[in-house]
Amino acid sequence: DGQFRNAFTNNFLVGAAAKTEQLSSGSLDAAILSGQFNSLTAEYQMKPDIIAPAEGQYNWTAADELMAFAENNGLQLRGHTLLWHRTAPNWMLSGSPAEVKTKLQTYVTDVVTRYKGRIYAWDVVNEVITDDASLGDSYRRSNWWTASGGNADYIDWAFEAARAADPDCKLYINDYSTEFDDKRDRLITVVQDLLARNIPVDGIGHQMHISVSMPAAQVFRAVDAIDNQFMGLEQHITELDISVYSDPASCFADMTGCQTDYGDAIPDTVLRDQALLYRELFNGFTARSSLSSVTVWGISDAESWLADWPVTRTNAPLLWDGDRNAKSALQAILDSSFTP
Ligand code: G3I
Repeated sequence: DGQFRNAFTNNFLVGAAAKTEQLSSGSLDAAILSGQFNSLTAEYQMKPDIIAPAEGQYNWTAADELMAFAENNGLQLRGHTLLWHRTAPNWMLSGSPAEVKTKLQTYVTDVVTRYKGRIYAWDVVNEVITDDASLGDSYRRSNWWTASGGNADYIDWAFEAARAADPDCKLYINDYSTEFDDKRDRLITVVQDLLARNIPVDGIGHQMHISVSMPAAQVFRAVDAIDNQFMGLEQHITELDISVYSDPASCFADMTGCQTDYGDAIPDTVLRDQALLYRELFNGFTARSSLSSVTVWGISDAESWLADWPVTRTNAPLLWDGDRNAKSALQAILDSSFTP
């Protein structure tokens, strides 16, 4: 009945991440995705480790199926992601910087060309900003950094190849923890440098993997800070989920001190807080004109990466529950008079 996507105007897109295997016809996930959303992100199957497992060998099957599902169901597809250190096949990273540059340019050109005109935005690079300020600058010392000769030239190469392959596609730099000032400031420094050198960055993606204890105001500060810094830059919320746990930093650093697994007894008060936070976030997102799309990182609580991260425990971060019933979080977004 399109209740979710029809709740928004001005072409504001609401998306979900999905895996090809979730989309077999008749599946509940396929029904929710095609019935409620208007944007789709490949949770993993449009990354290089899947598309190009070996040099000269492309495996388009899963990506094509996701593309077809989007086009057959009136969804727009958000490309994720051309370059990410965690899904960089070794063959792409081996050789001299000149050889790596050629491999990178060929891969980006081939993928972006295949879906030219059919993908509204690509996360050209994902998670290239360091979490460690002690390194002296803002770039992550990733395998891509090393393969490029100990610098960030690979970011330039990727954006320029993507722009050349599909001039109409919006090109994004995507990262997590942009809701924390230090990380966001480093991202701003990098984007300032890229734009100053005419590298074609169109937008910033905020992953926003947050906890139920995260104040909405802190999330909005991330979006507003970018607006204040870069007039005209687009923004997307790209991987929103709201963990029902409120963990100390140690839990993310070395899995110590993590909140105890609720099991199948997540407190109603926590789910109520989650619903109220989702409501506040969507109200604030739709009020910000530079934000044109929000993607949640999964369709239902039955399949969230948070079941295994940072520790294995029961989580319920999304808008539909494990039985694919709409949660109070969705009702809270849709109905301002609804009391979770
Ligand atoms: O489905 C296959 C299964 O058939 C196979 O037996 C198994 C072993 O090879 O792999 C399974 O695929 C896994 C897939 O998740 C589905 O579960 C892949 O190995 C695994 O790499 C993949 O992990 C994804 C990860 O990115 C790496 O691509 C997660 O689903 C996905 O949630 C995660 O998403 C990332 C964003 O891209 C970037 N931001 C952080 C976010 C969470 O890590």
